[in-house]
Amino acid sequence: MKRILSKETIKHSGKLVRVCGWVHSRRDHGKIIFIDLRDESGLVQIVFNPSNKSVYELAEKLRPEWVIGVVGKVIQRPKGMENSEIKTGQIEISAENLKVYSETKTLPFEINRKDAIVRIPKAERIVADVKKPKIITATSEEIRLRYRYLDLRREKMKKNLKLRFKVIQHIRKFLENEGFVEIETPILTKSTPEGARDFIVPSRLHPGKFYALPQSPQQYKQLLMVAGFEKYFQIARCFRDEDPRADRQMEFTQLDIEMAFIEEEDILNLIERLYIDIIKTIFPRKFITQIPFPRLIHKEVMEKYKTDKPDLRKDKSNPDELSFLFVKDFPMFEWREKENPSTGSGQGRWDACHHPFTRPQIENIKKIKKEPQNILAHQYDFVLNGWEIGGGSLRTYKPEILEAVFEVMGYKKEEAKKKFSHLFKAFQYGVPPHGGIAPGIDRFLAILCGEPNIREVIAFPKTGDGRDLMMDMPSEITKEQLEELHIKIQQEKNKEVQPP
Ligand code: AMO
Repeated sequence: MKRILSKETIKHSGKLVRVCGWVHSRRDHGKIIFIDLRDESGLVQIVFNPSNKSVYELAEKLRPEWVIGVVGKVIQRPKGMENSEIKTGQIEISAENLKVYSETKTLPFEINRKDAIVRIPKAERIVADVKKPKIITATSEEIRLRYRYLDLRREKMKKNLKLRFKVIQHIRKFLENEGFVEIETPILTKSTPEGARDFIVPSRLHPGKFYALPQSPQQYKQLLMVAGFEKYFQIARCFRDEDPRADRQMEFTQLDIEMAFIEEEDILNLIERLYIDIIKTIFPRKFITQIPFPRLIHKEVMEKYKTDKPDLRKDKSNPDELSFLFVKDFPMFEWREKENPSTGSGQGRWDACHHPFTRPQIENIKKIKKEPQNILAHQYDFVLNGWEIGGGSLRTYKPEILEAVFEVMGYKKEEAKKKFSHLFKAFQYGVPPHGGIAPGIDRFLAILCGEPNIREVIAFPKTGDGRDLMMDMPSEITKEQLEELHIKIQQEKNKEVQPP
């Protein structure tokens, strides 16, 4: 018999159906056993009567989270026994057959308590001002992450991940209607200067050489502009070797966008329309403080709010209020005291505020080199409720300006040309003026779901110290694998470690 979902049972009153799922809860009333069966679509009540002896005896053994299949007749619940809290609350299934697919050990934490909220340390909360949940269980996040597949059975986690899917689907449809093409770019790629440390992958076939995981698809999307794809987007996985925080994971997802022949306002306008559409369609209860989204000037914002991500909600205690805004006209360069190891030296230097591919607002090369502190950039951030949820810029497409920017950043002329030769070369073959943006998917969803940490909207996130407790990683690899990759591990005092 074909299995149907619990939510569909209401359409089959009086008929025999087969449902499958997890034992959500069990109640015994006198001799009758009631099971709430949970499947992906929700709950349905199953009733086991002692009159059907063999099935009843098996039902007596059922415990929470066992996986079962039931064949039974859909009947209307007796008057006064309806449950308005669930979709199938008018009916129940009178079991005629029961199959136990799998049993379960005692669970490390309770799954089916609606109010089972987990303690997240204050420092790790992204939404500091959401109404504080009543903490009724001490399930630590460590246990939740260790048993993430159980944690994901919880209604709240299901809801968050389904909303994530809906938002991403909506973005795809919206951008397709706008004439965009989604193109995948490589994960094994080359170090790119986005401001964080790279994750490095050793090459087996080329001893001593390494791939880097993309911090973002920045350079590929620019090369796609040279290739003549004028409207590109990608739901892109990005990797940055930085310490995870409430709003930061080592591995995260961006809506990466790039367009040719556009001005700043074309990008801001597109993002504004897209995000209004997402909110209206998927989060209709929420409202936006100000439309059009304010476009604020970086210098003025810093003077007025002392931050480049002001929170302009009228009522910060209202979880449904959303204040989107753009901050633009950032400085092109900022002074960094210490260099990050991905790019080389250990001294202070001028660095691009966003990234070196951002277009300065002036084209006077002498001035760019002489007064880097005074140069503004065609750069904008996208801010929601005081959090940076996106960043982008128009790009430099004139090779001589790109060279000047790298020179200010401390690269020797030939060094930059060599490291980014693919871009310099490509820009000699007909490059259109172009620009783009990359809103982060995880941060946006965490705010929209009222979650304190982006981990709550990611299926398998890493802990605060970059581990996956469920898979137990990072982990060692075998001696053979190390040899194949031409890698020797050294302990801190330069002692060699024997791999397992
Ligand atoms: P940027 O580095 O500003 O720009 O990143 C864009 C957006 O990505 C999100 N984000 C993150 N989310 C979670 N964890 C992280 N570690 C993390 N890092 C960034 C944020 C951020 O606003 N290539 C450029 C974009 C461009 O110029 O088009 C870039 O990546 O929401």
